[in-house]
Amino acid sequence: MKLFIDTANVEEIREIGEWGILEGVTTNPSLIAKEGLKLEDVMKEIVEIVEGPISAEVMGLKADEMLVEGRALSEIHPNIVIKVPFCEEGLKAIKKFHEENIKTNCTLIFSPAQALLAAKAGATFVSPFLGRLDDIGHVGMDLIESIKKIFVKGNISTEIISASIRGPQHVIQAAEAGSDIATVPYKVFKQMLNHPLTENGIEQFIRDYEGMKG
Ligand code: E4P
Repeated sequence: MKLFIDTANVEEIREIGEWGILEGVTTNPSLIAKEGLKLEDVMKEIVEIVEGPISAEVMGLKADEMLVEGRALSEIHPNIVIKVPFCEEGLKAIKKFHEENIKTNCTLIFSPAQALLAAKAGATFVSPFLGRLDDIGHVGMDLIESIKKIFVKGNISTEIISASIRGPQHVIQAAEAGSDIATVPYKVFKQMLNHPLTENGIEQFIRDYEGMKG
């Protein structure tokens, strides 16, 4: 499973990028707004840091508007992927982008049926949201498992990006469920580093070695 970072903060991308494990970036309008910058400007910076798919979301609600925005964003860099919200107009836009060889990430997927429609329209990626389903008492991971089963049985090449990740367990369960990608927030990447036995072990090794010298 590939690891993307889910942020529009360039410093966070740079820091996690230095670990050598990042293969892509996803952003959304809320994350862009948090940075207080223009989408195009953020994209221009991110493509210089990470080599891999970088999702930039369109804001238009009509397919024609999505197409205008998406074509302009895709001009910025070949790695830009157009993030399209799941809806009827979104499907029409995805189909057209597909015909134009522009990669898409269909976002806000909350059911296997939505994932299947997005894939059939030609989406390069689908983004099912785990955390937001858990938040309303559903089991987000069931959605990943179901989509994976449908895509494998149907020989569908659309890749699954497990999104709305809330903690390290989500990342591990997504990998076990066969998700192609998990898009992980900065905070969760930092949480994934930790294990008390590792920290204690390092301290113990240093103490023992220093003691031997003394
Ligand atoms: C996906 O690409 C979205 O940016 C993101 O994962 C949404 O997560 P949230 O539910 O934490 O806002």
